[in-house]
Amino acid sequence: MKFGYFDDKNREYVITTPQTPYPWINYLGNGDFFSIISNTSGGYSFYRDARLRRITRYRYNNIPLDSNGKYLYIRDENTVWSPSWKPAKTPLDHYECRHGLGYTKITGEKNKCRARVTCFVPDEVNAEIQILNLENLSDKPKTLKIHSFVEWCLWNALEDTTNFQRNFSTGQVEIEGSTLYHKTEFRERRNHYAFYHVNTPVKGFDTDREKFLGLYNGLEAPDAVMNQTAYNTEAHGWSPVASHFIEVSLKPGEQKQLVFVLGYVELPDKDKFVSNQVINKKPAKDIISLFDTPEKAVASFKRVVTKWTELMGGYQAVTPDEKFNRMVNIWNQYQCVITYYFSRSASYFESGIGRGMGFRDSNQDLLGFVHIMPQLAKQRIIDIASTQFEDGGAYHQYQPLTKRGNSDVGGNFNDDPLWLIAAVSAYIKETGDISILDEQVPFDNNEKNMASLMEHLKRSFDHVINNLGPHKLPLIGRADWNDCLNLNCFSSNPDESFQTTENKSGGVAESVFIAGMFIKYGLEYAEICSQLKNTGEAARAEKCVAEMTEAVNNHGWDGEWFIRAYDYFGKKVGSHECEESKIFIEPQGFCVMAGVGLADGRAAKTLESVNKYLACDHGIVLNYPAFTRYHIEYGEISSYPQGYKENAGVFCHNNPWVIIAETMNGNGNRAFDYFTRISPAHTEEKSELRKTEPYVFSQMIAGKEAYKPGEAKNSWLTGTAAWTFVAASQHILGVRPAFNGLQVDPCIPAEWKEVTIIRKFRKATYHITIKNPSGKNRGVSELKVDGDIISGTIVPIFNDNKIHKVEVIL
Ligand code: BGC
Ligand code: NOJ
Repeated sequence: MKFGYFDDKNREYVITTPQTPYPWINYLGNGDFFSIISNTSGGYSFYRDARLRRITRYRYNNIPLDSNGKYLYIRDENTVWSPSWKPAKTPLDHYECRHGLGYTKITGEKNKCRARVTCFVPDEVNAEIQILNLENLSDKPKTLKIHSFVEWCLWNALEDTTNFQRNFSTGQVEIEGSTLYHKTEFRERRNHYAFYHVNTPVKGFDTDREKFLGLYNGLEAPDAVMNQTAYNTEAHGWSPVASHFIEVSLKPGEQKQLVFVLGYVELPDKDKFVSNQVINKKPAKDIISLFDTPEKAVASFKRVVTKWTELMGGYQAVTPDEKFNRMVNIWNQYQCVITYYFSRSASYFESGIGRGMGFRDSNQDLLGFVHIMPQLAKQRIIDIASTQFEDGGAYHQYQPLTKRGNSDVGGNFNDDPLWLIAAVSAYIKETGDISILDEQVPFDNNEKNMASLMEHLKRSFDHVINNLGPHKLPLIGRADWNDCLNLNCFSSNPDESFQTTENKSGGVAESVFIAGMFIKYGLEYAEICSQLKNTGEAARAEKCVAEMTEAVNNHGWDGEWFIRAYDYFGKKVGSHECEESKIFIEPQGFCVMAGVGLADGRAAKTLESVNKYLACDHGIVLNYPAFTRYHIEYGEISSYPQGYKENAGVFCHNNPWVIIAETMNGNGNRAFDYFTRISPAHTEEKSELRKTEPYVFSQMIAGKEAYKPGEAKNSWLTGTAAWTFVAASQHILGVRPAFNGLQVDPCIPAEWKEVTIIRKFRKATYHITIKNPSGKNRGVSELKVDGDIISGTIVPIFNDNKIHKVEVIL
């Protein structure tokens, strides 16, 4: 069952009913000011940090679900309705929500009146703009009474939901004309306030929530709205809100536009006030003046649309599969940009309070946006590397505002360092900017202790070989990529965090997954050394990689698949010898991606095992059979009921590793098939079961052993975004940046006859046509560049701002 449709021309998903199986959201933002908006106008705004600078309030896990937002009430005679259906919930004659790239348009129609709200965050200022277009579709004049509504958050989102004894006395506002200012704590240490403005005179306003609503009412039927009035309240403490009361008359057929501006202002201490406690409103007025007419607002909206067209333009493909095209060209790339900005902080599953930026998460996210925003990628790499420890280890997380490592969580996740090599290598291949390796970067943010980025990479590499276990495989530390496989944790106390507890020291738990990573990224490290003509270091790296490959061959192979790990006691994890969870996905994907077993048939064998034991209709599950009880020696993974999250859920992030592995083994049909099982566009018909948005990947789809297989959770902020884009664009379509050019080596479904791709790369545009006359999966038989046949699969770097024609025959 579907709840909408894709409008690819406008790059929108069009939702046709407000009652989706779960709130379906979108992100608006300019890098500093952000809003999350659902299809019924729920959500909130924040400035840079969703915890410390929360601008409007949102109640997570509320009942009913998703019932805070930026709302409008329209009274037309005796009917009160909201264009977004919520909060009035009056049945609409027509409803439509268009989530586009960086904007959302919600249209409601009732009794021959149409209201469309277009929301976006312009690049030029820190504000969300809402253009309300009202249209009288009837043949009689209409007088509409409109109430707007937003609820302010008292800035620190955690305090805001916990410290009521203080909060209920701190709220402060100022009102001037049609602008309602929120200035809580501005009198003391804050140098920021927010405001909500509308570009028309108001009949009244409210800023006191209880008075606006009536103490015992919800948002469905506020007193002010029901009584067709505003109480002109000035909030003192309690819960400040901002509501305008506006009257609009429309002749038959007439349209009118109103522009609302929800803005954020920061001021230096000396300029905060114009007189005792009266805030300096000039910066707010400057913002307002940029949007005081609908024309100005519409022009700004168009700039947002153009910006996104340009951002998506670096990679555009046309294949015979329309759904694949829309993922690659629109939604997957969009999700990659969103994960760049948000990491794992704020979504409808991440509360914006809990998690900083993950070291491994951010490095992996970069793989999906480096081609879109290379400059930001560079800065991100430097920020991440600056938190690294001298011994090559890493803080597991860092804080976006301070960019410092988070000592509450600490380090010892032994896969972390290697992801830095992955990110830097991807950046250099994309941009050719090898000079990044000379950047001086601190350890642990200590400016007195700096080394080149290249030295940081060396420390990452060495961190693995300095931490080997009895089988010469990497020690796992607290956990590797799978944060829930906690082999040194041994927790029987529910008040302990699985993430940070290590109750047994001196363990020898080893990870075959990290071994696979080391082989893959160790080779990339060696390649980087060769680029720098450091042949000695390259040779050393290759030797270490060969030794690791040996260790995997000797101790990492179980007969039909790769073993997952060795536990604290040196017992195998993910082996046919185990009682539960005999096979895990991660080492299968990564060892094959690293090339292990490709020559001797073990890669093919393990991929068969993956297909046999792990693959299901909804994707590839993480492990099988699921843990049916808590195993203290494995930790959090066995805390989840079977089929959910890391315990045999389809943890989408690692599915593309198998997809890539399949392409390396030449099975393009299966690679593509796996893609379609998790791809939101391909599973749109299952929306009712899935629940989450059919335009973005979710972190997890319940696996085959779950109570409800196929139900997804945790959409948007997941490493799935970057990795599926890498799998689709670089491995299925096969267009991947290399140090010395653009490699074109597709591995596609046999029935695809032709694919065309436009790829911008190193200041040139490659128009690539792939022809597949004999129905192959993989294997380039002819490659022409600008008409000339070249050998191999690497197209040269041109750097000439011109278009180059690349013709490939399989
Ligand atoms: C989740 C993991 C996550 C970890 C760290 C666990 O509860 O299952 O997916 O990586 O928390 O935040
Ligand atoms: C989510 C975390 O953000 C990520 O770092 C981790 O790799 C996966 N969960 C798997 O546990």
